[in-house]
Amino acid sequence: MASFMTCSTLFTLIFIFLITPSLIVTDAKFSEQFPGPKANHDVEKMSHLHFYFHDIVSGKHPTAISVAGRKNEFGGTAIIDDPLTEGVKHGSKVVGRAQGMYSMSSLDASSLLMVMNFEFTEGKYNGSSLSVLGRNPFLETVREMPVVGGSGLFRFARGYALAKTVHYNVGTGDAVVEYNVFVMHH
Ligand SMILES: *[C@@H]1O[C@H](CO)[C@@H](O)[C@H](O)[C@H]1NC(C)=O
Repeated sequence: MASFMTCSTLFTLIFIFLITPSLIVTDAKFSEQFPGPKANHDVEKMSHLHFYFHDIVSGKHPTAISVAGRKNEFGGTAIIDDPLTEGVKHGSKVVGRAQGMYSMSSLDASSLLMVMNFEFTEGKYNGSSLSVLGRNPFLETVREMPVVGGSGLFRFARGYALAKTVHYNVGTGDAVVEYNVFVMHH
C-alpha cells in the first residue's frame, strides 16, 4: 500500500510538472527569440569605413536638389544622390553614393534630419548598404549620427557615423564632408 501511494504521488507530480504545460494551447507566436551564440564576437564583426561625401548643390549637375521649403530655412528639404569618394578631391575614386534626403528640422536652422542610405560600389562591400537616420547639427565640428541597419555584408548592422565638414563653399553651398563610420554587423 505504501509503495502504491508513493507510485501514485510520483505519477501526480509527473502529470503536473511535465504533461500539463504541454496541454496548454497557445496561439501562434507574435514574436520569438532565438538563443544567441555564447559569444557575440563569434558572429559579429566590427568595420570602420572612411570616405568623403560630396554634396553638390550648384552647377549643371547638382547631386543635391531642393524639393520643398527654402534652402537653409526651417522645413527646407533636399533629395541627394551624393558621390562618396576615397580621397578628399572631387575626382577621387568613387566608392559609393549617399542616396536619400535631408531636411532643416530645427527652427533656428542649425540642424538637419538626415535620412540616407550609403550604397557601396567598391571592394568587398560592393552591393552592400548602410542606412543612416539621425540629427546633423552641421555647425558643430563633428556630428554623430546613428547607423540603424544595413544590407548584404552589413546585415544586422548598427553603429554610428561621425561627420566632419572639410570644405564648405559659402558662395555655392557645395560641401565636402569626411565620414568615419563604425558598424557592428554579421
Ligand atoms: C560591383 O558590382 C556590380 C554588380 O554586381 C558590378 O557590375 C561591378 O562591376 C562591381 N564593381 C566593382 C568595382 O567590383
